Amino acid sequence: MTAGGDAGRCPIAVFASGTGSNLQAMLRHQQHNPLWPARIVLVVSDKPGCRACDVARAAGIPVFAERVAAYPDKAAFEAAVLDELRARGVMGVALAGYMRIVGPTLLSAYPGRIVNLHPSLLPAFPGRHAVRDALAAGVRETGVTVHLVDEGIDTGPVIAQWRVPVDAGMTEESLLERIHAVEHVLYPAVVGELARRWLEEVGRGR
Ligand code: GAR
Repeated sequence: MTAGGDAGRCPIAVFASGTGSNLQAMLRHQQHNPLWPARIVLVVSDKPGCRACDVARAAGIPVFAERVAAYPDKAAFEAAVLDELRARGVMGVALAGYMRIVGPTLLSAYPGRIVNLHPSLLPAFPGRHAVRDALAAGVRETGVTVHLVDEGIDTGPVIAQWRVPVDAGMTEESLLERIHAVEHVLYPAVVGELARRWLEEVGRGR
């Protein structure tokens, strides 16, 4: 493999609905780590105005950003996304703050090749408000999980977890900041490893 060359890197798409700080962390790897095995070739969003779209465009990454409501149903939205993924040769997908359940159209097209990041030690605190829910439960420890996506909400086989302590008096904002600091290191590392695996699998015709 040529260091820094695109030929040895696995083309992936990142799906995002929010601020895009994890997308940014992966883009930093793409830019500065010549051996990072992934290459982000597309960013998909269901929130056309979100900051993640701006982050992608600023980095020169193509963006597919459409509201699901603009399509007859979710399957039609995902079929349009799938056309984009295939047109760009995407081999795997990393969800990074994509606040939507992935449907059968995409799951069946990328079996075992869609990965999600979640701000808790799953199975604790699934859903949209994991950080708030952990604080409300009064836990002394939460964390970050990376898992393969299935049809459930934040379910699917866990690939990596990292503990994050919760100090007395922490707010949702300060805990989220601590969690993000972990995510920004953990997710690019795990996505890189998966990308290496996906590239090998595709090379073997699987
Ligand atoms: C991240 O903290 C991620 O763990 C969470 O959304 C945030 C996105 O931040 N994902 C979920 O809650 C999935 N259920 P970002 O837009 O700054 O990357």
